[in-house]
Amino acid sequence: MALQDFDLVLFGGSGDLSMRKLLPAMYARDVAKDLPPSARVICVGRHEWSQEEFLATVEQNSRPHIKKFEAKSWEAFKKRVVYVPLNATDVSTYKALYDCLRHDPNVTLVYYLATPPHLFAQICDNLAEVGLATPNSRVVLEKPLGRDLESARQINKEVGKVFAESQIYRIDHYLGKETVQNLLALRFGNILFEPLWRREWISDVQITIAEKIGVGNRMGYYDTSGALRDMLQNHLLQLLCIVAMEPPTSIAPDAVRDAKLQVLRSLKRFTPTTLAQNIVRGQYRAGHVDGQAVPSYRDEPDAPEYSRTETFVAMKAEIDTWRWAGVPFYLRTGKRMADRLAEIVVRFKPIPHSIFNQPTSSFQPNSLVIRLQPDEGLKMNLMAKTPGDGMRLKPAELELDFNEQFKTPRMDAYERLLLDVLRGQLTLFMRGDELEAAWEWVEPILQSWDADDSQPIPYTSGTWGPAASSALIGRDGLQWREEA
Ligand code: BG6
Repeated sequence: MALQDFDLVLFGGSGDLSMRKLLPAMYARDVAKDLPPSARVICVGRHEWSQEEFLATVEQNSRPHIKKFEAKSWEAFKKRVVYVPLNATDVSTYKALYDCLRHDPNVTLVYYLATPPHLFAQICDNLAEVGLATPNSRVVLEKPLGRDLESARQINKEVGKVFAESQIYRIDHYLGKETVQNLLALRFGNILFEPLWRREWISDVQITIAEKIGVGNRMGYYDTSGALRDMLQNHLLQLLCIVAMEPPTSIAPDAVRDAKLQVLRSLKRFTPTTLAQNIVRGQYRAGHVDGQAVPSYRDEPDAPEYSRTETFVAMKAEIDTWRWAGVPFYLRTGKRMADRLAEIVVRFKPIPHSIFNQPTSSFQPNSLVIRLQPDEGLKMNLMAKTPGDGMRLKPAELELDFNEQFKTPRMDAYERLLLDVLRGQLTLFMRGDELEAAWEWVEPILQSWDADDSQPIPYTSGTWGPAASSALIGRDGLQWREEA
């Protein structure tokens, strides 16, 4: 479907996300010939830069993040980029933006708020005041979408005064990842899995997002956030929703979002006792990642000396529904881990009886591994006969490598999500009530950690986190996949 002409306005236009992800994503779509000839990307920011000065910044900070650079198309793309100095909190500075934009019903106006969340309400108010919040404009909200239930509600309320829910695109870039959408395809485009996708056949689910990187230069943000807010409340819970949701009636936004909301509302609430038993939080110490010595979290630039911020969380969650009651969902995320890895592992129950000359215990239960990073693919672990004489069964793999199977070029998550915003497709974006339900579930954990003075458990950089994380899953007689 061809895109309607647009002006995409990036608030925080000279910031990190814009330079690293958003401008490269728009460039890639330009190269792919998805953008209408007169579509523009309007970057707004506080600096009183001229157009030339801004483009020099783009050269320096954005161009290095472009994967397939080509000089001619880059020059053409830069002609679409316009810089407008603006102070987000000062409505008098919005006039320049108003004058720059095209006020034509055939031009979609999109405001992408890649700013700290405390500015969302004010920006929306200011857009409304100068007449830029038109009924067919759209607003994109980048995370963090609040830091607790109260602030998330506030954002929803304030933004909702200016824009209707159907105009609001709350981004979780994990939903833009190809494999996540493939999980929808796997579950609802095949008859094979749905009958087995329930407590009778599935023993447990593991969801891991492990990173090798540390906090880098984001200490100011990260230390007030931590892994629970930064990764678990959003990315991991969204993955959990896609795994666990009931079949939606269609791929329409509200059908999918209703199904996800139901999962979030069915998550078993933690009490002070159950959360102490079922959640492990850690903080990295000095160690080695890829053979390189890396510092302790508390020795990173600008780190508070006695910071209690967690850089690792592992937990056992449960979903109180007929489909999932009693099936543990183990969630885990951390920085400075042994490897960069994002995957979902669905493990099925063991066979009930062996007809072969080997004990039932020698049959590795089937599992489905859905891998998001670093490579994308699906793996089904089965038992198969070893070739030759006799009847000896061993674990074997059935693998679907998306790069091998489909030669079509892949899109970065931001490319896909930006295209969806420009097309007006809301399915891969969170609805306001979903956001609140996710915070509501996380809230008791935040409160409990705030209330006591316990410390996260230290773990050595370059490992899979504190030993308590292995013990958490080990208690149920299981292991994390990499440790098995
Ligand atoms: C972001 C977090 O949302 O996701 C970062 O704020 C994290 O801390 C990043 O590094 C991970 O995303 P990806 O796509 O690299 O796995």
